[in-house]
Amino acid sequence: MDLTGKKILVFGVLTETSMGYKIAESASEQGADIILANAPGTASNIMKRISSRLPNKPVDCLSADITKPDDLAALALSIGAHWDSLDGVVHAVAFAPQDALGGNFLKTPFDSVAKAMEVSAFSLKGLVASLLPLLEKAPRASVVSLTFNAQVAWPVYDWMGPTKAALESINRYLAKELGPRGIRVNAVDSGPITTMAGKSIPGFDKLATLWPERAPLGWDTSDAKPVADVVAFLLSDSSRAITGQVIHVDGGFTAVGA
Ligand SMILES: NC(=O)c1ccc[n+]([C@@H]2O[C@H](COP(=O)([O-])OP(=O)(O)OC[C@H]3O[C@@H](n4cnc5c(N)ncnc54)[C@H](O)[C@@H]3O)[C@@H](O)[C@H]2O)c1
Repeated sequence: MDLTGKKILVFGVLTETSMGYKIAESASEQGADIILANAPGTASNIMKRISSRLPNKPVDCLSADITKPDDLAALALSIGAHWDSLDGVVHAVAFAPQDALGGNFLKTPFDSVAKAMEVSAFSLKGLVASLLPLLEKAPRASVVSLTFNAQVAWPVYDWMGPTKAALESINRYLAKELGPRGIRVNAVDSGPITTMAGKSIPGFDKLATLWPERAPLGWDTSDAKPVADVVAFLLSDSSRAITGQVIHVDGGFTAVGA
């Protein structure tokens, strides 16, 4: 897996536990140049502080609300000021209001569902569309997002489940649209990892205990590196014939019934 000289945006780095942070670390170790991005305000301030802990200093740390077209246009301009093309985009962003999570499925109002869908699913299209002129200039660009197996219904995950189903579908549609332009689009289904987003789902820690018990290979909820390494593979030219897929990185949990 070689990412030497690849120019990659990782969107969604909040703390060192973030999947985005581990992905930036892994890609950087493989030789990629990285730009980080996150929502404006506190999230970006924390991101800037922890960015110095990455093995190589990021080229820049940028802010954008992923739901705002003007922010995404400004993000594309800022990236374009550093690079004339973009080899990779990692979408590591999700959000759902509290009343859309934790066992509230039947009571969640549409406003909250719409917000969760906008930030966690539709934003993949928004981000990719705004960066398309830069992605098209790369010889073999790759887009990777993160999902949590949406083929089944989970306890407490509630409306994040349908947003992940939408994300996985958008992943396939983008792959169909962008394949002829030389751009691959894939998603990685990660087993549960203890992050800020994970902690914000009431009861998610209890659900997560099933993976170390049942996954054939076992599972460490504090170690996102196995997921990050697969994302790095999908960003590399080694995955040049893979698109529109959801790759399970979960210790084999989805392969067994009990
Ligand atoms: N942690 C898990 O167990 C797990 C499992 C499977 C998939 N995932 C997915 O991994 C991705 C990253 O999540 P994480 O677990 O690393 O948590 P995290 O909290 O570290 O990352 C989520 C990020 O989304 C950003 N964000 C939220 N709303 C935004 C907005 N409007 N504009 C811009 N950024 C916004 C947050 O600032 C944060 O950086 C998400 O898609 C999540 O669903 C996580």
